[in-house]
Amino acid sequence: MVMPAHPKTYSEAEIEDEAKRLLARLMHVECEASRSWNIEACREIAPLTLEINDLKKEKGAVVLAHSYVEPEIVYGVADFAGDSYMLSLKAKQAAAERIVFSGVVFMAETAKILSPEAEVVVPDRGSGCSLADSLTGAQLRELKSRYPDAAVVCYINSTADVKAECDVCVTSSNVYKIVASLPQKRILFVPDRLMAENIRVEMRKRGIDKEILSSDGTCIVHDRFDPNIVVDARRKYPGLKVVSHPECTIDITGQSDFVGSTGAMMEYVKTTEAPYFMMLTECGLLERLEVESPEKNFISGCKLCPYMKMNSLEKIRDVLVSPRQEQIIELDEELRLKALGSIERMFEIAESK
Ligand code: 13P
Ligand code: SF4
Repeated sequence: MVMPAHPKTYSEAEIEDEAKRLLARLMHVECEASRSWNIEACREIAPLTLEINDLKKEKGAVVLAHSYVEPEIVYGVADFAGDSYMLSLKAKQAAAERIVFSGVVFMAETAKILSPEAEVVVPDRGSGCSLADSLTGAQLRELKSRYPDAAVVCYINSTADVKAECDVCVTSSNVYKIVASLPQKRILFVPDRLMAENIRVEMRKRGIDKEILSSDGTCIVHDRFDPNIVVDARRKYPGLKVVSHPECTIDITGQSDFVGSTGAMMEYVKTTEAPYFMMLTECGLLERLEVESPEKNFISGCKLCPYMKMNSLEKIRDVLVSPRQEQIIELDEELRLKALGSIERMFEIAESK
């Protein structure tokens, strides 16, 4: 671990104030996936959050955090927390010298594509994603050669190499709108096989005639929910609302009251009256909702993403102090520009009326 040359020290009063600030948010986290937060636990991390927030100012850095990372990152040090789409917009607009991306590597790569002048760093280079890691640019080129008439649509959970081969990128917040808007009947959607199934169902529901082809990736978090837990939970909790992500199987999404991006799922829970909610997604999202909607009742069901959980306050502090070479995202300029084309097309269609 790289330690700062001169670790900062804070007075007892500064630590106490910071611990109270953290506790006001973290006290609501009840999910068993998180540690339990009391004033002692907040005092323990307060020197680190204080140091990170000072380092951000010194280094001209912003911290972007996906909602799936630990709540002490989201509420302790993140400048913006949200879903892939929101964080891409923030990366595009960031006028920062440095972006620390607390999420997974494909998200940081997307930030670098959109903000090439910034130094974009990741707390842990091992924070991959089973979807992004399931398909290479070369494999996609081979698939494209088999379906030359197809529009090539890539889910944002893909590498820069894959994005460079696509006509348009999508996130879970705009996938149906973008696929529906394309003139081609045949769509090659990569790399999420389960999201492709959800697109097929949605296009059929909308009466839109599309042929959706896909590669074989899945999310190792969302492909594991057992449809029986929904049946059991509905029996036990009348009035329950089941909320899931389009990376889930159609057996799960077909039984859900709401399906959407992590940002849309949060919005749905915040604006819906129901006695109970079941969140079939990564536990970080449930923790955010426990903090931001403490009056709602949640029943367990979430799962952990091992890649998102590679982020920690210590690693964020260390990468701010002095990033190791492998923590800095670097992209070939020609590849970056090709990948940028597919992301800009996404913004254009997603933001259109
Ligand atoms: P969102 O864009 O909905 O946040 O999804 C990202 C992700 O990795 C879900 O597993
Ligand atoms: Fe990738 Fe799934 Fe983790 Fe999201 S939850 S980063 S899709 S492995």
